[in-house]
Amino acid sequence: MEKKYVAPPYRIKMVEPIKMTTKEERIEKLKNAGYNPFSLRSEDVYIDLLTDSGTGAMSQFQWGALMQGDEAYAGSRSFFRFEGVVKDITNYQYVIPAHQGRGAEQVVLPQLITKKGMYFFSNMHFDTTRAHVELAGGRAVDVVIDECFDTVNFHPFKGNFDIEKLEKEIIEKGPENIAGIIMTITNNSAGGQPVSMENLRTVKEIAVKYNIKTIIDGARYAENAFFIKEREEGYQNKSIKEIAHEMFSYADILLMSAKKDGLVNMGGIIAIKDDFDLYQKCRTYIVPMEGFPTYGGLAGRDLEALAVGLEEALDEDYLRHRIDQARYLGDKLIAGGVPIQYPVGGHAVFVDCKKICPHIPFNEFPAQAVCNEVYIEAGVRAVEVGSFLLGRNPDTLENLESQLEFMRLTIPRRTYTYAHLDVVADAVISVYNRRETLVGLDFEYEPPVLRHFTARLKPIK
Ligand code: F0G
Repeated sequence: MEKKYVAPPYRIKMVEPIKMTTKEERIEKLKNAGYNPFSLRSEDVYIDLLTDSGTGAMSQFQWGALMQGDEAYAGSRSFFRFEGVVKDITNYQYVIPAHQGRGAEQVVLPQLITKKGMYFFSNMHFDTTRAHVELAGGRAVDVVIDECFDTVNFHPFKGNFDIEKLEKEIIEKGPENIAGIIMTITNNSAGGQPVSMENLRTVKEIAVKYNIKTIIDGARYAENAFFIKEREEGYQNKSIKEIAHEMFSYADILLMSAKKDGLVNMGGIIAIKDDFDLYQKCRTYIVPMEGFPTYGGLAGRDLEALAVGLEEALDEDYLRHRIDQARYLGDKLIAGGVPIQYPVGGHAVFVDCKKICPHIPFNEFPAQAVCNEVYIEAGVRAVEVGSFLLGRNPDTLENLESQLEFMRLTIPRRTYTYAHLDVVADAVISVYNRRETLVGLDFEYEPPVLRHFTARLKPIK
């Protein structure tokens, strides 16, 4: 039987034209961009799957809410509306806005590192989270299950913590040296893979046993809740909000990039369950970093749009279609023989480029080579998540080898149609079919930190 995919639960009221380019033009544009799609102008991209962060479409209700922003510096009405929605979704007592996810991270994470060299454990730290742990003098350790690195076989919750490893690490490093446990839901870096409720519950039990704080990195928490409803025994008849309540009950702090499941173009959230002392510290520290605690780097109108977006992201019709779009693209690629992280996660399809280009070594960036070809093929912009992104060992300056070499095809929310995804699938399959002709890349310019954003590369002839 042919698989069915849910049609969009919305119709289109406003359109944004996108430019078609020729292959010859794209070859030239990519060369000028130093073979790094981050340096392309978005105008020269036909379908932009660089990220799902802040790139989605707002609803008419969000655009309407924008007009109601209260731009008072302190005590804005828009803040209280936003605060009410966050409290309702999390059941937490204290809420502070931030300009985006990393703004929330830079305020909260340093408060938890009370002495140098303390550890954070996570299923997988997102790049900026890791950066803020390290900038604050801490160390970030990932303890995800091994199944996460096997892209072929099905596992319903590839984002899960390896519980045994987590407890072993806590005992080894000493509970007094652990600053916190970060639950990244969904696990972005390995495919938008969900974490099960049972896993979150067990992590919380361990955290309580050793008196360690738990933090949810909830950029895509609603997508995670949807997967739990779909795949975990006992959750089929619960609402997304009920599932969210239970997930948040297993953490003490929520850090969230609202550019994902907040359905806005800019925004971040700090929410704290009940630790008043920590809340006071964050309230004080946010002033010089992000702004007064009732605006935290956002305009009143941003807070209004976010309050509405947070509610809309809980809608099951919305979530089903959202997850189906990723699934649709994944299924098409699988049918074309393209190896991907399976099952497909919530926000993107992760293409396994180690398998596509075994002839390109990790330090010539196989996934970046595939991304570049996909752009040339059809004007589709994807992003590398592999050794190019990973960078170098700070001590030896050797290139680090990533366990996985992914091209991430990230799907913005409510933005592209299934027809766009057909274009993407055709382009990737056609590149896959001439995979032997792809060549590795070398640096023309390598920045000292976060090199993937601004590096210039050249193909190895
Ligand atoms: N945590 C996760 C899991 C993320 O995916 C991101 C951002 C952040 C934190 C930081 O949030 O961008 O608002 O400061 N991910 C984007 C991406 C950038 O493309 O995956 P931010």
